[in-house]
Amino acid sequence: MRLWCSATGLGLLVALTGCGPEGPELSEAAQRGRSAYVANCIACHATDPTKNGALGPELSGTSRELLELRVLHAEYPSGYTPKRPGGAMPALPHLEPKLDDLYAYLSEVAP
Ligand code: HEC
Repeated sequence: MRLWCSATGLGLLVALTGCGPEGPELSEAAQRGRSAYVANCIACHATDPTKNGALGPELSGTSRELLELRVLHAEYPSGYTPKRPGGAMPALPHLEPKLDDLYAYLSEVAP
């Protein structure tokens, strides 16, 4: 809803990233998360995180715990069965400051 977005007055970030063709309006944290996702994840995961990517699986319903363990430490929560086996994804510990934003994004786009 371009009209709604331009009316919020939240600034350039919203204008640039919040009103794209993807539809749902995201919180500011989720918009930052989307930028981090596009920059760091879509080499392997699908541009739409609810769909399977070439290498990485879809990420809807990813818990905060799973996200932190997998992204920062290349681990899974104990008892969790990974959607895909392999361990092909490296740890990305430099994304620690982005984790909350990534989580907000994945939560808000989940069906
Ligand atoms: C080099 C390719 C690659 C990159 C880059 C990558 N991933 Fe992955 N990801 C994978 C693969 C392959 C798997 C499944 C096997 C595994 O765990 O390595 C996976 C699994 C995951 C899982 C676990 C899914 C589940 O429920 O089983 C999460 C969460 C995840 N990735 C999040 C991310 C996020 C967030 C980013 C960006 C910050 C990212 N990945 C970047 C390849 C990648």
